[in-house]
This record gives sequence, C-alpha cells and structure tokens, in this order.
Amino acid sequence: MKKTVALLCVTLVAVWGCQPPDCDRKDCGTCGNACCSLSFHLDGVTSQAAYNKIMMNLKNGGADGRYSYSGGDDLRPYNISASFILQGVHMTLVHHYNDTLNFVLTDDMKPSIHPLGTTLHAFSISQIAGAYCDDGQNYKNLVGFVKALNMKYTETTVAGCPKPM
Ligand SMILES: *[C@@H]1O[C@H](CO)[C@@H](O)[C@H](O)[C@H]1NC(C)=O
Ligand SMILES: *[C@@H]1O[C@H](CO)[C@@H](O)[C@H](O)[C@H]1NC(C)=O
Repeated sequence: MKKTVALLCVTLVAVWGCQPPDCDRKDCGTCGNACCSLSFHLDGVTSQAAYNKIMMNLKNGGADGRYSYSGGDDLRPYNISASFILQGVHMTLVHHYNDTLNFVLTDDMKPSIHPLGTTLHAFSISQIAGAYCDDGQNYKNLVGFVKALNMKYTETTVAGCPKPM
C-alpha cells in the first residue's frame, strides 16, 4: 500500500513538472483536489487600479504567457465589502493542465493601518480530476502572477500550499 502511494506521488511529480522558481509550496488535497489560497496586500494602489492591471495581465497572458482571462465584475454598485471579482485560467507548459484562478479585491477600510491599499484574495485550484498533489503549481500560479503585476505587496497564506518544513 505504502509503495503504491509513493509510486503515485513520483508519477504525479513527473507529470505536473512545475517549472521553478516558486515550486516549493506543494498542496495535497486541501480542497478535495490540489489548491492554494493566499491573501496579498497591495500597497499604494486602489482596487480599481489593481483590477485593471490584473485584467490586463490575464488578457495578455501574464507572467509566462499562459494565463487567460475568463471574466470579471465591478461589485461596487452592490455595496458589499468586496469591490471587484475576476477569474482566469493558467495552463501548464508541458501537459497543458489548466488551473482555475479566482480573485477578489477589497479596498482598505482602515487608512490608519495602510495609508492606501487593496487586499487581493487569490485562489488557484487544479481542474484535472484527481489532482491530490500539485507539485507546487497552484502556489506558483498565484505568486508568479502577482510578482508580474509589479506592485509592492505583502503575502499571507489563507489555506493550503504550506511552506516546506
Ligand atoms: C452600504 O452599506 C453600509 C454598511 O453596510 C451602510 O451603512 C450604507 O447605508 C449602505 N449604503 C447604501 C447606499 O445602501
Ligand atoms: C486546457 O485549456 C486549453 C484551452 O481551453 C485546452 O486546449 C486544453 O485541452 C486544456 N487542457 C486540458 C488538460 O484539458
């Protein structure tokens, strides 16, 4: 039994083949499939500016040219805490595995703590059925994308994709 599990993990790693850097935050089954949930504080930008940039980068292919834009919406007319919502897809280089990316943008409500800024809740989940572990791809999808926004940020882990021990 143990041997089967080990063999399966080796096979999955070979198949997924996350391209470094940022492949060290593997997730195994957090969402019943591999996923990663992060929160980024984007310093000195409004949610509107961050939304425009995220949408543009998704439409342009993002950090590695393999991101795409699925849709997005301005939530401000609804007077709820979130300001914008977006969805995209990242496709891996080797086997063209697709991961769904979800983003929610919220303007800071406490200007005394952050003079001007936006919280970006970013989530990535493997689409392929049975992606128990992901070789770190979901974390990489998010952090690689956010780095390419060229915004100053701090990062917090919400769920999944744990730091290596
Ligand atoms: C928006 O929501 C806030 C807080 O829930 C409330 O105080 C305010 O009256 C609402 N504004 C409108 C236009 O509904
Ligand atoms: C991923 O999405 C692309 C574009 O929609 C599609 O061509 C490809 O077959 C998908 N990959 C898998 C493994 O389903």
